[in-house]
Amino acid sequence: MGRWHSIFFFATLAISLAGAVLILPRDDAESAGMVGTEVCRLCHPDRYKSYAASIHGKKVVPGNPAAHDGCESCHGPGAAHVEHKGEKGVGISAFGKRISDAREKSGRCLRCHEDFNTLASWDMGRHRREDVSCDNCHSIHSGGPKNLKNALPDLCWSCHRVVRAEGNKQSHHPVKERRIACNDCHNQHGGFGPKMIKADTVNELCYTCHADKRGPHFWEHPPVEENCRTCHTPHGSNHAKLLVRKPPQLCQSCHNAIGHPGSIYTNFETFRGSAASGKNRMFARSCLNCHSNIHGSMGPSTRGGRFVR
Ligand code: HEC
Ligand code: HEC
Ligand code: HEC
Ligand code: HEC
Ligand code: HEC
Ligand code: HEC
Ligand code: HEC
Ligand code: HEC
Ligand code: HEC
Ligand code: HEC
Repeated sequence: MGRWHSIFFFATLAISLAGAVLILPRDDAESAGMVGTEVCRLCHPDRYKSYAASIHGKKVVPGNPAAHDGCESCHGPGAAHVEHKGEKGVGISAFGKRISDAREKSGRCLRCHEDFNTLASWDMGRHRREDVSCDNCHSIHSGGPKNLKNALPDLCWSCHRVVRAEGNKQSHHPVKERRIACNDCHNQHGGFGPKMIKADTVNELCYTCHADKRGPHFWEHPPVEENCRTCHTPHGSNHAKLLVRKPPQLCQSCHNAIGHPGSIYTNFETFRGSAASGKNRMFARSCLNCHSNIHGSMGPSTRGGRFVR
């Protein structure tokens, strides 16, 4: 039997089945025009299979589509679609295709998912505001872990090219090495923090993994407590240690030469010289050769206060 024959055969069967389902009493208006998953299965066996294998298709999971209207929980009532034998443009929501409004698409998922914690901040998030919808990242029928269309970071990189380029720079958080993931730091579903980070402030985020940088220090360096971003960039930099600029320029953006103590080094110019001259203190780590505890110091003397120990 050829493909069209079988479609015709199933179509006939489906229409009679659809009729049978439709005369069953439904208890809410929303269910009008629903035909039931078994009818859809007749013409879409592959979609049925992927659905049945997923968490959405397991009857034991409370509150999921299998416990509600099956396929139609997401695709909407299918009677007209079935009557027109799947004719294009009639009566079914195809997500990727005919629904162009991201909010309407996401709304179909949020009817169930907005109660869950993970989506509680969706409305606040930039993704929602930019009309990114659930099905940009989740594919219900292709069934990767968490129904993701692609693993991280590739999924995020597919839209965030700049962040990807940053992640390839000399110094970078080990995202491409798969040691940490974009969503260790961000909540892709939205959040209260700036740039959807998983904390109220940048510093709180950094402290979750770099606890040693959290004060209180006996001697504090004010920009550190204020915002790590003043000196570091989160994704990648061509300067060592994710720095926004390299020392001494980084330091000199706030500190000038006047008042730097020490009879030997009266101003920053005198740091320069050949290695043999003994003057060259600007090699490599520059100011950090001496001011090594730049994030704050517990050193008891005033030397601690200068972050030199
Ligand atoms: C009588 C056979 C038949 C039945 C029953 C049927 N479909 Fe379809 N459906 C088709 C055909 C044919 C197409 C168009 C070809 C294709 O995309 O496979 C289609 C397309 C679709 C599409 C894509 C629409 C688009 O615009 O590209 C969705 C989504 C869909 N069906 C869902 C369902 C759901 C949900 C049900 C149950 C409520 C269902 N179908 C029942 C035959 C059927
Ligand atoms: C009828 C309610 C309902 C609808 C509609 C619904 N879901 Fe779900 N979904 C659930 C339930 C219940 C679970 C299982 C409980 C959980 O994971 O929190 C679930 C689980 C998930 C999971 C986790 C999968 C896993 O492997 O852990 C993802 C991702 C998901 N849904 C995305 C979506 C997307 C995207 C849509 C819209 C296209 C959608 N859901 C529509 C009820 C629904
Ligand atoms: C920008 C990509 C992206 C968008 C858009 C997106 N998600 Fe997700 N979603 C993810 C990622 C990544 C995970 C996996 C999180 C993890 O494993 O830590 C996830 C996990 C989930 C889970 C499982 C919850 C959990 O913590 O295990 C559910 C449910 C879910 N998403 C539903 C949705 C719904 C509903 C929408 C639309 C309102 C949506 N997602 C939009 C990327 C996205
Ligand atoms: C949890 C929500 C959800 C459920 C339940 C669901 N689908 Fe889908 N379906 C989607 C989404 C989202 C897409 C868009 C493509 C993707 O994510 O794979 C889709 C795509 C499709 C397509 C292809 C549309 C196209 O553009 O070509 C068909 C056909 C389809 N689904 C049929 C079904 C059938 C039949 C069932 C029940 C057996 C079902 N779906 C259950 C969410 C769902
Ligand atoms: C180590 C934590 C961390 C990781 C990992 C991380 N980010 Fe970020 N991201 C941040 C911080 C911090 C900001 C800036 C917040 C601010 O300026 O207030 C940010 C900002 C952003 C922005 C806003 C634009 C910009 O560049 O400021 C985007 C988009 C972004 N991140 C995407 C991603 C993606 C995609 C990944 C994975 C490839 C990722 N991030 C990995 C911490 C991280
Ligand atoms: C379908 C495309 C798409 C995908 C996939 C995607 N994003 Fe985005 N994202 C956007 C757009 C568009 C914006 C807004 C413009 C911008 O900042 O680039 C945005 C903004 C962001 C921002 C900035 C938030 C703010 O408040 O400014 C972060 C952080 C972010 N995305 C993280 C992620 C992460 C993490 C992933 C992977 C789980 C991801 N995105 C996947 C399209 C996408
Ligand atoms: C999810 C955990 C995590 C968070 C959150 C995090 N980091 Fe990291 N960070 C790491 C890991 C892992 C490394 C690599 C350490 C290694 O290679 O031994 C690293 C390395 C670094 C480095 C050294 C980079 C280099 O080239 O050697 C700097 C600087 C840094 N992080 C700053 C920050 C700042 C600033 C923040 C807040 C915006 C932050 N980190 C948030 C996990 C994190
Ligand atoms: C005043 C500029 C400045 C600020 C603000 C700053 N850092 Fe740094 N950070 C540096 C410099 C300079 C280095 C390189 C030190 C070196 O090479 O010895 C560094 C190195 C690091 C490193 C890698 C080496 C190490 O010590 O582990 C981490 C991680 C780090 N910073 C985290 C943070 C965090 C977290 C914050 C916010 C709480 C922060 N930094 C704020 C200047 C700064
Ligand atoms: C964003 C501005 C900023 C940057 C960048 C910066 N600092 Fe500072 N630094 C300050 C401020 C503000 C103080 C506190 C001054 C005070 O208490 O009088 C300070 C204090 C210090 C002190 C102690 C001074 C004293 O009088 O006790 C030293 C030493 C120092 N910084 C070294 C550095 C070095 C080295 C760098 C580069 C790695 C650097 N700073 C980068 C703003 C900055
Ligand atoms: C050769 C070691 C050395 C180098 C290199 C060095 N410093 Fe210092 N710096 C010191 C010492 C030692 C003190 C504190 C002396 C004291 O405790 O009285 C100091 C004090 C300071 C102070 C406090 C000044 C004050 O008024 O009390 C600042 C700010 C400072 N340095 C910034 C810098 C910057 C910025 C650089 C790089 C451009 C730098 N230092 C390079 C050794 C160094």
